[in-house]
Amino acid sequence: MKILSIETSCDETAFSVIEQTTEVPLSFRVLSNHVLSQIDIHKEYGGVFPAIAKREHAKAFVPLLEKTLRDASLFSQGALQSSTPQQLIDLLEKDLELLAEMRAVCSWGRPNIDAIAVTSGPGLEPALWVGISGAKALSLLWNIPLYPINHMEGHIYASVLEKTESGYSVPDISFPALALLISGGHTELVHVEKNGVHSILGQTRDDAIGEAFDKVARLLGLQYPGGPKISKLAREARSENIVSTRIPALPRPMLHSQDFDFSFSGIKTAVLYAIQALGELSDDDKKCIAREFENAVTEVLVHKCKKAIMHTSAQTLIVGGGVSANTYIREHLTHLCESLHVRPYIPEYHLSTDNALMIGITALLHINRGVQPPSPDSIRANGSLSINSQ
Ligand code: KG4
Ligand code: ZN
Repeated sequence: MKILSIETSCDETAFSVIEQTTEVPLSFRVLSNHVLSQIDIHKEYGGVFPAIAKREHAKAFVPLLEKTLRDASLFSQGALQSSTPQQLIDLLEKDLELLAEMRAVCSWGRPNIDAIAVTSGPGLEPALWVGISGAKALSLLWNIPLYPINHMEGHIYASVLEKTESGYSVPDISFPALALLISGGHTELVHVEKNGVHSILGQTRDDAIGEAFDKVARLLGLQYPGGPKISKLAREARSENIVSTRIPALPRPMLHSQDFDFSFSGIKTAVLYAIQALGELSDDDKKCIAREFENAVTEVLVHKCKKAIMHTSAQTLIVGGGVSANTYIREHLTHLCESLHVRPYIPEYHLSTDNALMIGITALLHINRGVQPPSPDSIRANGSLSINSQ
């Protein structure tokens, strides 16, 4: 079983090919895995712009697909086609940029692939559509079944993977599990009853945590994406033991609320007011703000996870999404798990941010559970697709 997977939900165009190696335990090897980031383009604007993301995905789609297939030794040149199949023209009539690129694919040989998986949401709809339309075109040209995959589910299963000699395996997770999904677009606490059965326990009421990192970074004059830069400054403040009496304590919003929801926009506003009151910021001030911000959000995450673990009797905590790359947050969530005797799963750094491997592995789990692919016509981008199981 070989799966080609495609991810275009935000500012990364990503493709991967994985091949299942054993059924029990479910394991696979990675034949190819590529991520092309648009960060350099978006950082000029301080955030991700959907129309620009769409254009860049369309530009990158075919070259990155070819590279992915070549790497997996699955690329071959077929007979040159004098005309583009009408079905392809009909399918991509709303996406002429992609259609122009996809013409080249018509003269490729059909790769030896059993399934195609594509992110159908959540994310930026114009960006998601590029992946979905491209995937539909490949499914049509090569007659390969197409599976729509939820991006957040992808983050969950990317986080639990265990490295093997030839690739990765999916461990036997002790359920119920709790998943903390923290990214630029989402902050969710998800109750995972078993593989594929999820319900949202709590989520952010305003900004996502990654968005808060990015906005605070911008207030400090740092470029998008701000998460890693804030994290670096905070680490310096701690290792240099900088003491500042100028920086006020930041709020810990909803720390003691009765639910499992989050709110991060208040912390960002508090940083804004603090900066306005301080005037000119020294390097030490910036480091102290970063440290206090990281302390505040970490305290909220740890407290809410603790409450949710106790509430659900979770045996396992799965942490996923771009912000799970944050060392301080990782350390504190690991300590929490140790103290509660809960097994933590935290992704390898390169699997914490968006990639296509996470989409491929989720599809592999679906296929092994016997999930049938829907008709490609019914697959649509859904920017606010929920992870709740129907
Ligand atoms: O999951 P992801 O790659 O994309 C979305 O689906 O949003 O997450 C990107 C987010 C950005 O907001 C970025 O600033 C944040 O993850 N991020 C971090 C770190 N590395 C990435 N935030 C805090 N600390 C980090 N080390
Ligand atoms: Zn993501």
